[in-house]
Amino acid sequence: MITTPVSEQAIKTAATCLKQGGLVAFPTETVYGLGAIATDNRAVARIFKAKKRPSFNPLISHFADRRQALGAGEATLIAEKLAAAFWPGPLTLILKRPVDSPISMLASAGTDSLAIRVPAHKVALALITEARAPIVAPSANLSGRLSPSTAIHVLQGLGEACDIILDGGACEKGLESTVIDCRTERGVLLRPGPITSEDIYKHTGIMVSPPLFDDIGMRDSDILVSPGQLPSHYAPKASVRMNAQTRNFDELFIAFGPAPLGIVEDFNLSEKADLVEAAARLFSILHAADKLAPKSIAFAPIPVAGLGLAINDRLSRAASPRPS
Ligand code: TXA
Ligand code: MG
Repeated sequence: MITTPVSEQAIKTAATCLKQGGLVAFPTETVYGLGAIATDNRAVARIFKAKKRPSFNPLISHFADRRQALGAGEATLIAEKLAAAFWPGPLTLILKRPVDSPISMLASAGTDSLAIRVPAHKVALALITEARAPIVAPSANLSGRLSPSTAIHVLQGLGEACDIILDGGACEKGLESTVIDCRTERGVLLRPGPITSEDIYKHTGIMVSPPLFDDIGMRDSDILVSPGQLPSHYAPKASVRMNAQTRNFDELFIAFGPAPLGIVEDFNLSEKADLVEAAARLFSILHAADKLAPKSIAFAPIPVAGLGLAINDRLSRAASPRPS
């Protein structure tokens, strides 16, 4: 395994490695991804093994070009509109998978759907272009654990499994892409992320809806909930407590804006209570807090609007009871 700063040569070497079936961790504007060529079954299988990812959890295929991305699935009108408004960018669309799709069936986890995204990061785009193929890339962390927003996080969590880690610095958004099921014109928000429902409405007039309660069971419904959105996810080693107004013994306190009276915070997601800054710092702070090995990590309340929805989504999964 090698970690290398980004350069033209490093991207060429990484693309060659991918073409030979290798796994390359690379930066995107959201989080670092662990990449393999999307059509290479063996390489895609290596990703599941490296992450200890359940095989029912499908992967996102990343493209450098909007038309190629939409052409990989059965594009609907709503998908066309969202792609035009937000790509390249932190938005993943779920489409129906064509029967003759060359993308590994493993990437669809045996379903007839396909997740596609055009990332807005020059290293990711250069790597896909150089590899001349779509790249599947889940977040470069062990399944269920914290997502990586720096190359160091990748190295510490999954280092041995990567053939190359391209170090492009910290990820701008810090939270994984928004996922929208576009297989019907209803537009179902499967994972809240950097592009909020408000952004979508403002730029396209489309009102996406949360999954119906019935969808959550993932059974007898043609509207698939992201299988990756399990209750316990994004988990640090410490337990997590949300909406904390007090600080318990053995607990670290993470503030958002001014800490509640009488509490000295250990970290602050954003001193000026800015949700964009808080999202960008969330995983870095969780990684740093976890390193101090507290029993529990308490989070001050974070507003559940705009980007706050995605932050609260990740925190509530981090706070969920862990599978034993
Ligand atoms: O920002 C991101 O999306 C990052 C960067 C690397 O692009 N990738 C990422 O991948 O977060 P991952 O695998 O950690 O999360 C992908 C999410 C999971 O919740 C997965 O279940 C869902 O997308 N997903 C993937 N394919 C799907 C499909 N065909 N249908 C429904 N959900 C899907
Ligand atoms: Mg992930």
